Amino acid sequence: MTDIRRPENMERITTPELAQAFIDEQVKLLREQIGSDKVLLALSGGVDSSVVAALLIKAVGDQLVAVHVNHGLLRKGEPEQVQRVFRDEMKANLIYVDAVDRFLDKLAGVSDPEQKRMIIGGEFIEVFAEEARKLDGIKFLAQGTIWPDILESEKGIKAHHNAGGLPEDLRFELVEPVRILFKDEVRAVGSALGLPDNMVYRQPFPGPGLGVRCPGAITRDRLEAVREADAILREEFAKNGLEGKVWQYFTVVPDFKSTGIKDGERCFEWPVIIRAVNTRDAMTATVENVPFELMQHITQRIITEVKGVNRVLYDFTPKPTATIEYE
Ligand code: XMP
Repeated sequence: MTDIRRPENMERITTPELAQAFIDEQVKLLREQIGSDKVLLALSGGVDSSVVAALLIKAVGDQLVAVHVNHGLLRKGEPEQVQRVFRDEMKANLIYVDAVDRFLDKLAGVSDPEQKRMIIGGEFIEVFAEEARKLDGIKFLAQGTIWPDILESEKGIKAHHNAGGLPEDLRFELVEPVRILFKDEVRAVGSALGLPDNMVYRQPFPGPGLGVRCPGAITRDRLEAVREADAILREEFAKNGLEGKVWQYFTVVPDFKSTGIKDGERCFEWPVIIRAVNTRDAMTATVENVPFELMQHITQRIITEVKGVNRVLYDFTPKPTATIEYE
């Protein structure tokens, strides 16, 4: 099952009808492959793992055991949405793991970006492996591998991040139902499966999450400021027609403070940096021309609603020279 390739002549899935045909075929194949066994899935709430979960729920129902690890670096409302959509609405067998303290304790005082990434990635595998060991009778591991992942790992551009990672005693057979799809096709299939638009059409979000938007050593209070400011930015972009138009937008709270005035008193607090960029392939990026009045409104909301913040800045830098993320 793991060496399946996209047929050269495969029609691009661009319509609900084509998506439905793909779903019908996959459901049949998944039932054949899985039989009456159990499948494990790490469900992050991102597009790929969400679509894989929805496909498996349709094919094998509660034989799917989905594990959602909250590492404390997710955006506001994300862990709640995963539980609402998959457990409450789709009736999935979902295990929710609150690992927030575990991750943030491990990250405390760590300021090197690569070390932060390694801790987040390593801890994720440990938490997931611990959950897997508690379960009996798992035969398969489902993964949201997509066709560009295969192509990029073949070209040596990046390691195929989905493959492996789990310790020796947890080598399950792989199930990869969206392996031959491009990203836009995964989205079309997700919509046809009834997943909400804000899950299917969401902007890219890095694996280390808000951790890379809280540069330097992560503290809980600064992380909370990033999360709250990000929620305001997303709400305002959605209200003002920029959601779906701008490729990626988010906030960063750097690890320095500056002087300001609040309620007639001097304060010494963080700035929030807003980044909003457009790109085709994330190799280069240009900055979105956000209307000045909207920026003023967002600034006003952030400085009044987000604790510990007294300044808002806009990042005007294209890629190159700046990367999209700050770490
Ligand atoms: P940069 O910062 O390199 O980002 O210009 C390009 C795109 O990749 C995303 N990104 C990541 N995604 N893990 C991910 O899954 C990561 O560690 C990571 N770092 C950057 C970034 O959000 C942007 O869309």
